[in-house]
Amino acid sequence: MRLLFLGPPGAGKGTQAVGVAQSLNIPHIATGNMLREAVAAATPLGLQAKAVMAAGDLVSDDLVIGMLMDRIALPDASNGFILDGFPRNVAQAEALATTLDREGLDAAVLITVDDDEIVRRISGRRTCPNQHVYHQDDNQPLVPDVCNIDGETLYQRDDDQEDVVRNRLDVYRDQTEPLVAFYRSMDLPIHEVNGVGSMDEIQRAILETISA
Ligand code: AP5
Repeated sequence: MRLLFLGPPGAGKGTQAVGVAQSLNIPHIATGNMLREAVAAATPLGLQAKAVMAAGDLVSDDLVIGMLMDRIALPDASNGFILDGFPRNVAQAEALATTLDREGLDAAVLITVDDDEIVRRISGRRTCPNQHVYHQDDNQPLVPDVCNIDGETLYQRDDDQEDVVRNRLDVYRDQTEPLVAFYRSMDLPIHEVNGVGSMDEIQRAILETISA
């Protein structure tokens, strides 16, 4: 199954995609995670992306499209994948459609959450260097500031400051939200899921709607 997860920053795309990918036994491919790893490793890609990401703007299409195409060409993606954070604009969506050609995508999951809740979630988010995600109120680690999975110290992302979050929301409305109409015009099934509620309830709702 080839799925896209769409929705504003902080909607819970990453949180939900991890579990859905495990249930479907397909990789979760998150361009934000890949870019943060490149920044941390100070690769040429990471050095180019760092300041753009910290400001909450989009990294250039050339860089991101190449990175994503290389990733979906790997053998573990041959039976499907969940894309989280890609495409971010119509140019990226068109590049993806060209690459996938006739096999195409199966569906998109659109997670909706209002802006006040997004700002609350993102300002309380804590992340580990291996991209495991927590929240200081709603999804606390067992030991404060320590990742349950790998014991790494949690940190706050540079782009999780409130002014940067507001810019990310503007970028989402301007460049990414139009993808909903783009994919509707291509007759791709779009499953809209309310992203407010317990993480388990939302997970069940996503799995039910994509298997219906
Ligand atoms: P990216 O990492 O993709 O950021 P995003 O889309 O803004 O999404 P987030 O990671 O902020 O949120 P999420 O929806 O995954 O929420 P999460 O599950 O963490 O991109 C970052 C940057 O990289 C971009 O700004 C851009 O610069 C660059 N980039 C990436 N892809 C690109 C592309 N294709 N082209 C160009 N540039 C690109 O949840 C958020 C918080 O809420 C967590 O603390 C979580 O614990 C909590 N939470 C989750 N669910 C619930 C719930 N149900 N109830 C309460 N709390 C919850």
